[in-house]
Amino acid sequence: MKTALTLSGSIRKGSYNRLLQQHMGKKLAEAGVKVTELDLGDFEMPIFNEDLEAEHTPDSARELAELWRSHDIVFIATPEYNGGSAPLMVNTITWLSRQKPSPFRHAIFGIGGVSSGKYGTIWSLSHLRDSLTKVGALIVPTLLGIGPASQAFDEAGNPVERSVIAKVDQMVTELTLFSRG
Ligand SMILES: Cc1cc2nc3c(=O)[nH]c(=O)nc-3n(C[C@H](O)[C@H](O)[C@H](O)COP(=O)(O)O)c2cc1C
Repeated sequence: MKTALTLSGSIRKGSYNRLLQQHMGKKLAEAGVKVTELDLGDFEMPIFNEDLEAEHTPDSARELAELWRSHDIVFIATPEYNGGSAPLMVNTITWLSRQKPSPFRHAIFGIGGVSSGKYGTIWSLSHLRDSLTKVGALIVPTLLGIGPASQAFDEAGNPVERSVIAKVDQMVTELTLFSRG
């Protein structure tokens, strides 16, 4: 049985990205994947600074890196801030990029995001894909950009737009079929 981690780059109460995280977790589970939902709020890390590294690498960075190394799939839902990546996402990836062995070279990654703008995190996803690719991650082709957030989900937390529903299915197929061998 394949295993997946899901996480959200927003830890605020009522986060739309958390909704997307939960929805993807549900769809992956329906596809027969064993899903572990993470809360980045449980993995506190200070703002990265090379001076901190030598003696103060946070345990959270080591723990999260080990989780990424030990699962087949990692799904990340990320917000968009000022046309780019949200700081929690950048800080998390920066700390993980310093962990050995690399936590990016085992799992297949899926990335998506929900934002209040109608372009639905396209700039944020573009940044995230570039950054993850640079550190060796294999990311499935489907990008799940969703917006505007306030109209994106019904009361049960399911996406309402047909195109989004189809993309979620497409991403689940890619995440479950792709492998790094
Ligand atoms: C500092 C900041 C910058 C933002 N910049 C953007 C942006 O560039 N594009 C956009 O569509 N939404 C932007 N938003 C709105 C977010 O998309 C919105 O707050 C969204 O709900 C955040 O995701 P969350 O619900 O998972 O926390 C911004 C919000 C904040 C707080």
